[in-house]
Amino acid sequence: MTPAAPVRVAVVGLGWAGRSIWLPRLREHPRFAVAAAVDPDPATRATVAAEYPELELLADVAELDSNRFDLAVVAVPNHRHADIAELLLTAGIPVFLEKPVCLSSAEADRLAAAERAGDVTLLAGSAARYRADVSRLYEVAAGLGAIRHVDLAWIRARGIPDAGGWFTRREQSGGGALVDLGWHLLDTLTPLLGSVEFQQVVGTTSDDFVSDGAWAASWRHGEQEAPAGGGDVEDTARGFLVTGDGTSVSLRASWASHEARDLTAINVEGAAGTASLRCTFGFGPNRQDCSSLSVTRIGQTTAVPLPDEPIGTEYRRQLDELPAMLADPASRGRAIAEVRPTIAAIERLYESARSRRSAPQLVRVGR
Ligand SMILES: NC(=O)c1ccc[n+]([C@@H]2O[C@H](COP(=O)([O-])OP(=O)(O)OC[C@H]3O[C@@H](n4cnc5c(N)ncnc54)[C@H](O)[C@@H]3O)[C@@H](O)[C@H]2O)c1
Repeated sequence: MTPAAPVRVAVVGLGWAGRSIWLPRLREHPRFAVAAAVDPDPATRATVAAEYPELELLADVAELDSNRFDLAVVAVPNHRHADIAELLLTAGIPVFLEKPVCLSSAEADRLAAAERAGDVTLLAGSAARYRADVSRLYEVAAGLGAIRHVDLAWIRARGIPDAGGWFTRREQSGGGALVDLGWHLLDTLTPLLGSVEFQQVVGTTSDDFVSDGAWAASWRHGEQEAPAGGGDVEDTARGFLVTGDGTSVSLRASWASHEARDLTAINVEGAAGTASLRCTFGFGPNRQDCSSLSVTRIGQTTAVPLPDEPIGTEYRRQLDELPAMLADPASRGRAIAEVRPTIAAIERLYESARSRRSAPQLVRVGR
């Protein structure tokens, strides 16, 4: 691939993310040429064929030839991420893998080994970092001195993806709101704190909404009826994490709540001031009216102007960066290095939540 030639892409997985996020943006982007798309489901392939008659459609990733593709954009259900990316990387095809990149530290090890074996690069979906408001928060946070604490929250009013489908079956999703929304939140930490190890992680999970289809993500179904609900994952996760150098992070990820609007909030507390971002990540319709960012120092709160940008701009912006990332040898191994603390934190938060559930109930004595 020469620096100016379009990146020849295969889109793997033609569900909501493949069709709503990646196919249209890749097709309109001058630096990419979508050369094929893959999905094992014949009905899905037929729908995509009707919309894009000239697109080569395949049923199996094994049919992709490394001589014809510079990149595979992989957006398949979570439990297939590691094995499909491993297969592609080993075959010599660079991979852009949707979040959650992996569901365990063991899967991270497998992906790192596949990247080395195929001698090609793995890139990770990190859309939130490419939002204009989040980028501005990073700039402001750089002037806040030593960062002591970060509050991360994404609380949806209602937005359980495909309740009763793979998203809400632990065996296929790896978990609920923590793996889905919490991944995006934890992913925003790297530019703030660097690639950190958490020494302590405690957390709780709850599932008060997941069994009821009324709390489903309406935007995933268009005119179709919302799914019936059900599943065995949490709709809410809460955690408290502490790094080796004593920086703390609190985390709240909720697919549904009693709020009227979806809120994503990131508060950064530094020695020299605090910064507070309030916005809505993702595509949900119950959004904050606009993003707002403020900085507080010695009792004075100042609003930081933010550009207004259309929903989903961060995905296009990430695509802008991909060709250079693919061409840069320093990208090799970076995604996995960044992912390791994220998946370790998720594993430990679930472990903490499980251990609390299985612990004997404390009996309150006296008044
Ligand atoms: N970055 C984001 O904001 C964002 C948003 C939505 C989804 N996602 C991620 O994208 C992934 C897909 O989510 P979705 O909502 O599109 O799910 P989905 O269920 O709508 O689509 C998944 C598609 O993958 C296909 N598939 C299954 N096995 C496959 C295989 N072996 N090869 C090729 N295709 C295969 C299915 O047939 C289906 O069409 C998930 O990991 C999800 O976390 C990311």
